[in-house]
Amino acid sequence: MKHKNWWTDCVGYVIYPQAYMDSNNDGFGDIQGIISKLDYLRDLGINLIWLCPIFASPMEDNGYDVKDFYSIAPEFGTMDDLKALIAGCHERGIRLILDLPLNETSDEHPWFQMAIRDPESKERGYYFFRKGIRDGDNLNPPNNWMGYNGISTWTRVGDTDDFYFHLFAVKQPDLDWSNPEVRQEMAHVACFYLDMGVDGFRLDAMAHLSKDKSFSPSTLPTDSRGLVLDAPKFSNRPEVYDYLCDFRSKLSRPDACLIGEAGGGITPEQAAHVADRENGPISMVFNFDTAWNNNGYGGIEKRPEEIRTDVILLKHNFERWYNICSEHADMPLYWCDHDHPRVLSQYGSTVFRNESAKCLLTTLLFLYGTPFIYYGDEIGMSNVTYEKPEDFFSDSAQRSEIANLRAAGYDDERITHYLNRASRVNSRTPMQWDRGPNAGFSTKGSVNKVNMNYLQGVNVFDQMRDPWSILNFYQYAIWKRRDPAINRIVNEGKLEFLDHNNPDVIAYIHRGEEKLIVISNFREYDVSFDFYWQISDVILHNYDTVLLENHVFHLRPFESFLLKVRGNM
Ligand code: NOJ
Repeated sequence: MKHKNWWTDCVGYVIYPQAYMDSNNDGFGDIQGIISKLDYLRDLGINLIWLCPIFASPMEDNGYDVKDFYSIAPEFGTMDDLKALIAGCHERGIRLILDLPLNETSDEHPWFQMAIRDPESKERGYYFFRKGIRDGDNLNPPNNWMGYNGISTWTRVGDTDDFYFHLFAVKQPDLDWSNPEVRQEMAHVACFYLDMGVDGFRLDAMAHLSKDKSFSPSTLPTDSRGLVLDAPKFSNRPEVYDYLCDFRSKLSRPDACLIGEAGGGITPEQAAHVADRENGPISMVFNFDTAWNNNGYGGIEKRPEEIRTDVILLKHNFERWYNICSEHADMPLYWCDHDHPRVLSQYGSTVFRNESAKCLLTTLLFLYGTPFIYYGDEIGMSNVTYEKPEDFFSDSAQRSEIANLRAAGYDDERITHYLNRASRVNSRTPMQWDRGPNAGFSTKGSVNKVNMNYLQGVNVFDQMRDPWSILNFYQYAIWKRRDPAINRIVNEGKLEFLDHNNPDVIAYIHRGEEKLIVISNFREYDVSFDFYWQISDVILHNYDTVLLENHVFHLRPFESFLLKVRGNM
């Protein structure tokens, strides 16, 4: 019997605070805005919020670049606002976890400022400084590593011979977690918020907490600038486990939920180890293996027909993680977050917005694990149709990419077309509340321009009044997911995928005393699906008639079912 942690009874919801609700009409979403929507969230049925970073920050990376972990960015509000948010959540039975960027700080953080000012300071040892390599009159960076923003991981310190290391933007120097004082400092931050009542953290960029400190050059082929992204040099290295054990041992609340964000190719075996229910230092691992299973990542050259949901791959990835992890570790589930385009535009369809939004929810919600819904997916929000590359400039990673694309000779029309499909800014537009200016988010405007489809029914106000809306389906489905009897089957029944090689349909079963089956057509066209069980209940369905004849389901575009079934298959 797997032992039970509180988050296994949760349905989570991700809030990108800058874009959620602006209470003071300065164009920037804030904590009071979130508080004003807590009743909406309670009624939606979620009971866990992951809040993207709210700490004081120059906002180079929209809050992932922290300059003071002990104060709240004035754009978002005050510490009292956070306390009110915690209380407001708890009064409504909602837990709150904060996003903690602990792999790096802003270059405006006092630690980094001191490290630059005084090479003898203890803070110098909080970061990675290395000498550049002299080549005649030139001073080259210490090695050829490229970071995740498509630039060198090294930036020179003034006109000295020293460089500092950053995996992301120039303004985000990485912390050296092999330094026990860094771990102590970050645990202190975590305890400060746990003691305030926060229920846990998303550990941002957890995968990258350890680097190959020899900083030896990569031997992989480099690009025209002599750079290469060699992930194993700074991803999921064995020391991450030890650092996290140390971090966890210093926390004031053993029931804190720690969800590690692990890119860089983490394996399910590594995730099962680090999140092991008995003695792993963290609670769950967010992996990226089910994101971009449509060949949609990067690729400005890709033609539309090359971008197509790979249903077989998706099933394979969900199943592989389930098979390896679930016995040992709890798992979070999500389609996409603030680092991806909108899921509806990736795996769903704006033509079949209503059907595909419901289909995506049903498919995800009843897999094993704690599901996380990304804000706006509950009304079917989709990618933008911006007009120029500058519309994406709020994101530093995007600015670097645009500069690289322009340098490579792409014109702005082509770049814009590509970003409207692939940019993560797509998921950072204002939440669409109603038909008022800026979709009711703010009268002032917003960091990223609102998606105009709020005028075509993609907003909360209209959908609340439509019994067949995506929003009403979400509400009903989430309450079903939280029904203790269903939660037990989902978390304790054996999950098996059906018809693995079917290229169009995702179907799975939870076997146990009772059986639940999900069947979802991921295509814009009709398909058929063989079915030999006896249906005892149609719990969820996104069409109003069922086409089942001679053991064959006739599935219409994005048709999706959650069924309770009998039968011995
Ligand atoms: C991961 C966050 O999810 C992403 O938004 C951010 O840009 C990077 N960490 C760097 O902080």
